[in-house]
Amino acid sequence: MSDSEIVLKLLVIDDEALNLGLIKLALEQPGLDIVTTTDPDEGLAMVREKRPEIVLLDLMLSQRSGMDLLEEIVACDPGTEVIMMTGYYSAESAVEAIRKGAADYLTKPLDVSALRMRISRMISEHRSRKFTTQLDQQMVDTFQLDGIVGRSPLILDVFSAIRRVAPHFRTALITGDTGTGKELVAHALHRRSPVSDKTFAVCNCAALVETLFESELFGHVRGAFTGATQDKVGLFEYAHQGTVFLDEIGDMPLAGQAKLLRVLQNQEVQRVGSTAVRKVDVRFIAATNKDLRSLIRERTFREDLYYRLSMLEIKLPNLVDRKEDLPLLQRYFIEKFATQYDKPIRGLTRRAQALLGRHDWPGNVRELENIIGKACMMVEGTVIDAKDLPPHLHKTPVLTHLDDDKLLSMEEVGQRHLVRVLERMGGDKSRSAEVLGISRTTLYSMLAKIDSPQKDQPTGTPATRSA
Ligand SMILES: Nc1ncnc2c1ncn2[C@@H]1O[C@H](COP(=O)(O)OP(=O)(O)OP(=O)(O)O)[C@@H](O)[C@H]1O
Ligand SMILES: [Mg+2]
Repeated sequence: MSDSEIVLKLLVIDDEALNLGLIKLALEQPGLDIVTTTDPDEGLAMVREKRPEIVLLDLMLSQRSGMDLLEEIVACDPGTEVIMMTGYYSAESAVEAIRKGAADYLTKPLDVSALRMRISRMISEHRSRKFTTQLDQQMVDTFQLDGIVGRSPLILDVFSAIRRVAPHFRTALITGDTGTGKELVAHALHRRSPVSDKTFAVCNCAALVETLFESELFGHVRGAFTGATQDKVGLFEYAHQGTVFLDEIGDMPLAGQAKLLRVLQNQEVQRVGSTAVRKVDVRFIAATNKDLRSLIRERTFREDLYYRLSMLEIKLPNLVDRKEDLPLLQRYFIEKFATQYDKPIRGLTRRAQALLGRHDWPGNVRELENIIGKACMMVEGTVIDAKDLPPHLHKTPVLTHLDDDKLLSMEEVGQRHLVRVLERMGGDKSRSAEVLGISRTTLYSMLAKIDSPQKDQPTGTPATRSA
C-alpha cells in the first residue's frame, strides 16, 4: 500500500450543525475523510461501522453527555484518538476526559490552525505506524530462523552460531535464562544438521527418576531387575544416527553424569543387566538455565562433563538486553494468537507498547508470549490496550495523584505528567519534549531526577521508572 492510499477517517460529533460545517471546512486535507453528525447515537453507530481513527467530540451534547459517549467509543475501540471539545473549560472535566481515554481536551472557540496542524501530525504518525507494522510483518518473515524471531545484533549472533554449528557438531551446549528459547535452538540445530531426517529424542533430565534413569537412557534386558519383564531399548539406542536433546542437564543426577560422559567419549552403551556393548552414533545437544560453573563449585555437576559439553556453547541473551526485538516478537505473537483464536486483532495501542517496552522481562520471551496470548484471548476490540495487560506491568499508576489524598509538590506533579506524556508517545523523548513545550535537555534532566530520587522521596512516585 502506498502512502497516498492510506486515508484516515475523522468523525465529528457536535449538536450544532453550524460547528460541524466550520470544522469540516477548516480541517479538510488530502488523506483525510471527514464525516459528521449531530446525533450522538448515530455517531456511536458510525464509530462501530466505520472505525474512524480520530473522533472530535463535543462535551455538551443536548441529548446525552459527551463524557459517556467518550467511554463507549473508547470501549468500542481503544485505538481511536478521541479529542474532546468544550465551550466550558473545567479542570475536573479535562482530567476526567483524559482519564477516560481522551487523547486531548480543547476549548472552544477552537484554535483551528492548531487543530489542523495536530490532525496533519496524526495523519503522518498513523502512516508511519501503519508502515512500521507492515515493515515489522516483513521483518518477521525475514528475521527469523526456524521459528526463532529477532533482529537484534545479539540474536543475529545466535543465528550465525546455529548455522555454523549445525552441520558439524557432535555435542553442543545451549545456555540461557528461562524462556530465552533454548528448546527452539535445539530443534533448529537438529533441523539444520545432516541427520535432520533421523530421530530427535528428548530427555528431560529434571524429570528422570534417579532409580530409573539408567534403564530409560541405556535400556535393560529381561530379568535385569524386578519388573523388567522384557528387553527395553534405551533413549540413546532409540536415537541411533539421530540427535538426543538432554534438556535441563544441570538437573541430571551425578551417577547419570558419569555414565553419560562415557557415552559421549566412546559412543557406546550397555543395557542394564547385559555385558554386551553396543555402538551408537548419536549427536548430543544439552541445555540448561543453570550456571553449570557454580554447580561444579557446589560439586553437583562434573567438571569433566562440563568441558566435554561446553566445547561448542551457544549462549542465549535475555530479552531485556535486546529490547529491539520486542516489536517483531509482539507482531509475531499477535499474528499467532489472532489466527489461533480467529480474531481480527490488528496490534497494540501506543500505551500498551510503552508498558511492554518498560518491563524487564524476567521470564523472557515465554513471559511475552504468555502476556500477548492472554491479551489476545481477552480483548474485545481489534487492538490490545494497556488495560488488557497484566497489573504487574503497570508499575506506576497513571494520574494517581488525582485519586489519592496525598498532596503533591509541583515538581512531583510535573514528574508524573512527564511520565504520562512519555507513555503516550511510546517512549519517544523528542516528541515528548515537543508536546511538553520543554527542551530535550530539560526533559533528560527531569528524567535523571526521577531515576535517582532523593532518599526521603515518598513511595508511589515514578521514582523507580526507567523511561
Ligand atoms: N526468539 C523467539 N522467537 C519466537 N518465539 C520464541 C523465541 N524465544 C522463545 N520463544 C518462545 O518462548 C517459549 C519459551 O521458549 P523455550 O521453551 O525454548 O525456552 P527455554 O529457554 O527452553 O526456557 P526454560 O529454561 O524455562 O526451559 C516457547 O513457546 C518458544 O516458542
Ligand atoms: Mg526449556
